[in-house]
Amino acid sequence: MQVFERKADLTQFVDQIKAESKSIGFVPTMGALHAGHILLVTEAKKQADVVVASIFVNPIQFNNAEDLKKYPRTFDSDRKMLEEAGCDIVFFPSVEEMYPEEEIEESYDFGALEKVMEGAARPGHFNGVAVVVKRLFDLVRPDKAFFGKKDFQQLAIIRALVKQMASPVKIIGLDTVREKDGLAMSSRNRRLSEVQREQAVELSQVLNFIKQNKNKSRPEELEKEASRKLAHNFKVEYIQIVDGNSLQPISDWSQSDYPVACAAAFLGDIRLIDNLEL
Ligand code: PAF
Repeated sequence: MQVFERKADLTQFVDQIKAESKSIGFVPTMGALHAGHILLVTEAKKQADVVVASIFVNPIQFNNAEDLKKYPRTFDSDRKMLEEAGCDIVFFPSVEEMYPEEEIEESYDFGALEKVMEGAARPGHFNGVAVVVKRLFDLVRPDKAFFGKKDFQQLAIIRALVKQMASPVKIIGLDTVREKDGLAMSSRNRRLSEVQREQAVELSQVLNFIKQNKNKSRPEELEKEASRKLAHNFKVEYIQIVDGNSLQPISDWSQSDYPVACAAAFLGDIRLIDNLEL
């Protein structure tokens, strides 16, 4: 496995792969890798000739300076995990390499998709994601790119981005990988104290509660009940039942044949998100 820190080296490698008519599978990450990321690499390996992963903690998608500062950075173990998973190339650029300009000017419009949930709670977040993903796609020129469904709204935004750009990249979404007790794997889980780690499982539990009670109560009642349960230990940002395609909230089960419950909540200053297809 090779590690490139420079765009020029990555471009040279990609040119060579393209000249050999090989396909490229791409796994963009912010590092602090866990089994969920490794599943993406393993799947990319099955579906493409060459696998490129990127590790870049993208400052412009953080709307909270403290969150950016505390975001775990574990390059040595990330590198080992990627190598063991059969990754071919790691792109590990500096902030200056990704953003040489003083001011980033790209601005994307994802309409209603970005007005809810993460988009509403974290202003500018999805623009930052779109800017970096577009730049990475332009560099890596993948045939397929792999993302986890844990960031459910991000996946929808990236599908919309690719459509807007008329980009040929095929977006593959893979199921969330969970710990034994149900907690969705997340880089932020590393920051949980022992007590918080025990409490964290409640996030997936309330989503399961919603799933089990689907059709017994109206969506809004279940959202309220789930928030009430979660609020014992968490500071709840939102629990929302949405249509999985439009991401718009539903007030009646008849409004969607693909309902998904999404949640974001804080344990201390650690913000966790999760979702469940109902
Ligand atoms: O999901 C992530 O880790 C990031 O949002 C991504 C897609 C790598 C963009 O920085």
